[in-house]
Amino acid sequence: MTDQVPPPESDIPGKPTSASRTTLSHIMTVSDTNLLGTVHGGVIMKLVDDAAGAVAGRHSGGPAVTASMDEMVFLVPVRVGDLVHVRAQVNWTGRSSMEVGVRVMAERWNESTPATQVGSAYLVFAAVDAEGRPRAVPPVIPESERDKRRYQEAQIRRTHRLARRRAIKELRARRAAEGIDDHR
Ligand SMILES: CC(C)(COP(=O)(O)OP(=O)(O)OC[C@H]1O[C@@H](n2cnc3c(N)ncnc32)[C@H](O)[C@@H]1OP(=O)(O)O)[C@@H](O)C(=O)NCCC(=O)NCCS
Repeated sequence: MTDQVPPPESDIPGKPTSASRTTLSHIMTVSDTNLLGTVHGGVIMKLVDDAAGAVAGRHSGGPAVTASMDEMVFLVPVRVGDLVHVRAQVNWTGRSSMEVGVRVMAERWNESTPATQVGSAYLVFAAVDAEGRPRAVPPVIPESERDKRRYQEAQIRRTHRLARRRAIKELRARRAAEGIDDHR
């Protein structure tokens, strides 16, 4: 089993997950469509980044930038007229980074059925100071059992992200040391 990264010690008081949880809602229009007439994935990604950024800013009490977005999944097409709700919360915090989990729900404009999940994503935000340098964030305090599961799962993703970055860096360093030039 992969070793998990322990959460860092922090002098900043913690903040509960619910303090920054946010939902952003948007009605899809014709200008949001792709060639097939359904909503373009990039439009949904922008909403995901917006909602996650709002959560990261609220949790960290200042500016935060997107460091990565992964596991963006599109489950069902979104259509023009659909009311899309993008729900975001801080799943995990490091020293200056936060993993934000996002769930995308759609209510069909012409059906009185409950909202359907149409997508999800995990984003890492880094809180930054006025010069764009990483700054420390309050530790997130997971409240419900679901928050606690999401915290543990986020730690697993963090471990894998770090391991992948390290492995790729090492591979590139080894190839460079062997004199292999792949910049052509
Ligand atoms: C994100 C950014 C601030 C990181 O700066 P850095 O000098 O690499 O600083 P660090 O290595 O200390 O990283 C800061 C934190 O972000 C995390 N991080 C950095 N890059 C990451 C990545 N690609 N994936 C996941 N986490 C990442 C680090 O693990 C660290 O977390 P921790 O403090 O909780 O341990 C910097 O790369 C940046 O400004 N990127 C551009 C962001 C941006 O403009 N986004 C909008 C897109 S247009």
